Amino acid sequence: MDTFRSTSTLQRFTKLTFAVALACVVACGGAGASAEEIPLKLMPYPRSVERTQGYFVLGKEFHAAVSRSGDARLDGALNRMLVRLDRQCGGILRAQSLPVSGSSTISVEADNAGGAIQGLDEDESYQLHVTDGGIKISARTDVGAIRGLQTLLQLVTLQNGACALPLVTIDDAPRFRWRGFMLDVVRHFEPVSEIKRTLNGMEVAKLNVFHWHLSDDEGFRAESKKFPKLTGNASRGEFYTQEQMRDVVAYARERGIRVVPEFDMPGHSTSTVFAYPEYGSGEEITFVPNVWAAPHAELDPSNEKTYRYIDDFVGEMSEIFPDAYFHIGGDETTGEAWLKNPRIAAFMKQKGFATQNDLQAYFNQRLLPILTKHHKRMIGWDEILSPALPKSIAVQSWRGAESLSAGAKQGYEGILSAPYYLDAQKTSEEMYLADPIPADTMMTADEQKLILGGEVCMWSEQIHEETIDSRVWPRTMAMAERFWSPQSRRDVPDMYRRLRIASLELEDVGLLHIIGPKTLRRNLIDSTETEAIDAFAAAIEPVSFSDRSDTQHTDALTSLDRLVDAVVADPPLRQQMRREVNAMLLGHSEGDAQAFSAGVAAYQLRTRFQLWVEISPGLQALAKQSPRLSDSFTRAEQLGELGQAGLEALAYLDRGVKAGAEWQQAKLATITDAEKPSALVRFAFLPSLRQLVEAAGGGQSK
Ligand code: ACM
Repeated sequence: MDTFRSTSTLQRFTKLTFAVALACVVACGGAGASAEEIPLKLMPYPRSVERTQGYFVLGKEFHAAVSRSGDARLDGALNRMLVRLDRQCGGILRAQSLPVSGSSTISVEADNAGGAIQGLDEDESYQLHVTDGGIKISARTDVGAIRGLQTLLQLVTLQNGACALPLVTIDDAPRFRWRGFMLDVVRHFEPVSEIKRTLNGMEVAKLNVFHWHLSDDEGFRAESKKFPKLTGNASRGEFYTQEQMRDVVAYARERGIRVVPEFDMPGHSTSTVFAYPEYGSGEEITFVPNVWAAPHAELDPSNEKTYRYIDDFVGEMSEIFPDAYFHIGGDETTGEAWLKNPRIAAFMKQKGFATQNDLQAYFNQRLLPILTKHHKRMIGWDEILSPALPKSIAVQSWRGAESLSAGAKQGYEGILSAPYYLDAQKTSEEMYLADPIPADTMMTADEQKLILGGEVCMWSEQIHEETIDSRVWPRTMAMAERFWSPQSRRDVPDMYRRLRIASLELEDVGLLHIIGPKTLRRNLIDSTETEAIDAFAAAIEPVSFSDRSDTQHTDALTSLDRLVDAVVADPPLRQQMRREVNAMLLGHSEGDAQAFSAGVAAYQLRTRFQLWVEISPGLQALAKQSPRLSDSFTRAEQLGELGQAGLEALAYLDRGVKAGAEWQQAKLATITDAEKPSALVRFAFLPSLRQLVEAAGGGQSK
């Protein structure tokens, strides 16, 4: 454990040329609140935090310095931090531009730059000390310092007209080495500006792998100069140039994020085969599909030309993507065309392959030396797992924890993704509590070492540029904490408390998850008077991916501009109503930091129920008026009925009169009705309302 460094050590720091000096600023315990009064808002929460009484207040004389100025990555990270600090505290950039005249307020020391190509074992640890004398971050590498700078920003609080940081000693390092975010840019394309916004959010979340899903049946999004028809014929003109991909890799590296590209093979390859039928298995592909459905095509594993294509293609992409890992996809390969093609069927017979899985394993065996030649390690989805492959491959599990641990038992490294599919529209709580290595794991210590971490996944069938941020953030922050923080951190109310604050931080780095849905709602009603639709939207959330695609048959040409697109997953109202109902019925609320009385809870509930009753007729009228809201009529009607049920339940509870069985049955039926699918959205608060109605009836109904 690092010990606290003295001021004299701080003074040895090289100063940035533009910088000023001294800084101390008032070290203070006098800034107001005590250590206990203001809970920390750190997320992901560090491994160890020791807090002492008092605060360090940022004053007019401010200066921040890095130990190795001239290192572009460290200077850049410091500047990003200063810009954000300036937005919060004011005067920071001006102070920083003055000549140096003393020691630094903030000193950032990184022993070395870290790997030229960031690897799995990059040291991301850091120590952060806030003392009476100033703020110091020490790390082994730039990446550790970058992580520490994010923590520093999260420590800032506003007090007595100034910015202050609590006196703390933080010793931090991630629990998992692979903390990823996968983005599918095939089903809907995302411009580079969106990718960069995502990377900004990942930096805040201390995520370290951007997994870029660049090819699939529905398109090919990475420019190849050797195989120009890939994007020329199979991208609808939406693809990244090589220059843009290099730019993204550099942008990610500045933030301590690796970029792992995914190019699907042999399955999910319809776009490739459309562009180059000679590598396919004889399928007739006459167009690039805009939905996951026929036609399907797979690369031909029996054809030597296929491997020459892959060798050339991987070689070209390796010049752009320096990461050690290359994702080959490998999932959901049916191999139907292999069986239908007499030449491939004969090849299978000759090799003694009984199933398509055997042929896929052969394909992967052929792929391995190609990847090795280009200094890449293979990673793919569960389906690549085969004893025919060496233990150097890594498996990404979309099938679940059992599949992941089965791989580990056989000696394969793996990462978990199944519980972290954002389009399943699960709550942050559900995803947060899913652990790549749960406390009750049956894996041995050696097997656990093979679990590299996890990846949050965003598939893009049902999102586009305007809605992506609100689907990804802030929920991804919760998984980022799961991957970074100790396993024992599982306090859900506290997670939500910090998540709501982190959400604003994410907005501060350019993400549009708050304003995006609001803009869409304005557009839906063609008015700036959004109070009613905003209140409606706050109470509902999108249905799961499968419910939506089963109902809407969503494809790339579906307009994603309905009510479902203008609401967010796991809206804050769910937690809020849960806390209010608990406060009312049990006399306490979860999350002691925000505890409120039963009386306040009842007031808040009543106000909301009343609002729902009042806005329901107007929302029904809007639904009749606007073609894009037409499917929301039933939900608008139900909102009023649910509000009425809530008001009546509160009235019974207030008077201390038990409601009759008939009343309770009728209201529970209203709730049950509201649980049924409609308009691709579901109400987020029904369990809490049910609890209230049951309490008004004097207990659970039979
Ligand atoms: C997958 O969801 N098929 C990786």
